[in-house]
Amino acid sequence: MTVVQPGKFITFEGIDGAGKSTHIERFAQLLRARGIDVVVSREPGGTPLAESLRSLLLSESMRPETEVLLAFAARNEHVKNVIEPALEQGQWVVCDRFTDSTYAYQGGGRGVKRSDIAGLAQMVLGEFEPDLTVLFDLPAEEAAARRGRARQADRFEALDAAFFERVRQAYLLRMQERPSRFVLIDARQNVNDIKVMLDNITINI
Ligand code: TYD
Repeated sequence: MTVVQPGKFITFEGIDGAGKSTHIERFAQLLRARGIDVVVSREPGGTPLAESLRSLLLSESMRPETEVLLAFAARNEHVKNVIEPALEQGQWVVCDRFTDSTYAYQGGGRGVKRSDIAGLAQMVLGEFEPDLTVLFDLPAEEAAARRGRARQADRFEALDAAFFERVRQAYLLRMQERPSRFVLIDARQNVNDIKVMLDNITINI
């Protein structure tokens, strides 16, 4: 019997406008070029139900705690139906956002207690965590200027720079608490320098 080596779980994080989504598909291609079977997914989302919950979260006005509950409801479906089965089969999963987004947006941005978020994380994930998290960091004002040039804002993207600065600081705190899991990308660098950094990450994991 051949024993399948479990895949790795890699997440991309950062405030809206930092540019992470631009790099995810290329990052996955670099891994594929090394012969790795890669699944790209996103949160909230990744299953039909979780995508419906995403639409609600991004469009309906709701209490901050409700945002947390929806994020974890979607995550529960995504982790158990998609992420864990893929990893068990030896596929790698590259995910646009995960639990760090909930700590950053609902915890830092909305002011939900971190201990409440941690309680739900324990219920849904137990000890499960990404193997690696690539954090795109950018001052909130710069991210807002970049977003302004792009498409129509969703419910979060319409929030002010003070909200996004709190989100940013919450991300940086998560990174300080878990330095071994995070790689920080200064998103003010030009796109080519960021590509080189990401190339190096795919070589070293
Ligand atoms: P995003 O990932 O930036 O997708 P797009 O590029 O299509 O805009 O948008 C998802 C939004 O959801 C983003 O503003 C952050 C928010 N979000 C939370 O508030 N909490 C969460 O737990 C997650 C996963 C996302």
